[in-house]
Amino acid sequence: MSFHIMGTGSALPRRSVTNDELSAFLETDDEWITTRTGIKSRPVCTTETLDDLAAEAARRALEAAGVTAAELDYIICTTCSAERVTPAEACVVQQAIGATCPAFDVNGACAGYVFALDVADGLFCAGRAERILVVSAEKMSRMADWTDRAICVLFGDGAAATVLGRGGDSPLYLRTTTEGDADVIHSWAPAGNSPFDEVGAARLGEDGTFMQMRGREVFKFAVTHIVSELQLMEKRTGVALSDVDHFVFHQANKRIIDAGVERLGLDPSRVIVTIDHTANVSSACIPLSLDTLARDDALKPGDLVALFGFGSGLVTGTCLLRWQPALA
Ligand code: ACO
Repeated sequence: MSFHIMGTGSALPRRSVTNDELSAFLETDDEWITTRTGIKSRPVCTTETLDDLAAEAARRALEAAGVTAAELDYIICTTCSAERVTPAEACVVQQAIGATCPAFDVNGACAGYVFALDVADGLFCAGRAERILVVSAEKMSRMADWTDRAICVLFGDGAAATVLGRGGDSPLYLRTTTEGDADVIHSWAPAGNSPFDEVGAARLGEDGTFMQMRGREVFKFAVTHIVSELQLMEKRTGVALSDVDHFVFHQANKRIIDAGVERLGLDPSRVIVTIDHTANVSSACIPLSLDTLARDDALKPGDLVALFGFGSGLVTGTCLLRWQPALA
């Protein structure tokens, strides 16, 4: 237990693309997308870059926290869809907001935000930081094949940030898991032009650089692990799930969330759902939901907030936080 969340912020592209707009160029319709996923529209970058969104989310979180860029000790970005292979997105944010601290990225796919909290917890516990900015920024529209109706309808773009301060009750629980599987969800990096590489081009020939996913397997993995990981959290912390005030799940499919809620017997009014208008923004989903709760004044001091993310890897991240924004 080493930190508290001091402030949150987010930034979405101006353009929101509806299901009906997709059916103009894909063999799909609003009814299929809504009933199978819960998505009605998704934010998609047009004139904004991921850098713009990440920096704006960071500025808003700093403002909410009352912290200046100069006071930051680290910036950690989570992303699996950055526009550059290098430098890290965190370096771009550092430059944009005028910070001077070390900055690096974490790629934990859709559970990336919880992986970043794990890293931050370690830095706070080691006495190496007073203030850490975590920015989750994803441009999933770049990874999706817009001719593949089974993929492109699912994703959106956006960024969300939180400022963490040393001291506080969080995390009351944090567990990350990886079941190494590089196949079920993957996206290849661009091939180079090495005349010696005999596999890179062949791999790209099969899949291209677009995201490939076996949706049903991911669906089962997600539902199984929402249940098992939250039950484990309950057992290890002694905090009953019925005492958790807010559940913030990765927003990949409303039916995944509903299945978890039903199997765990959770009160649906304590489960935030943003997928209808955000779609799957990968690692930005969880902090985006936190920012929505914070700005709607739905989080009261002392509230318990459970986070659960899952994604490519295959990874999961589970965390129990106490909401203490005003802690000195
Ligand atoms: N519109 C109309 N029909 C469609 C669409 C579409 N957009 N997409 C697929 N279909 C069709 C398929 O072609 C298939 O047709 P067929 O029966 O004639 O072959 C039919 O619908 C059923 O397809 P399924 O893939 O079986 O549909 P399912 O109900 O499983 O839903 C979905 C697919 C939404 C992808 C679901 O499996 C899912 O949500 N999986 C989890 C995805 C997830 O969690 N991703 C997160 C990871 S992302 C990351 O980590 C970065």
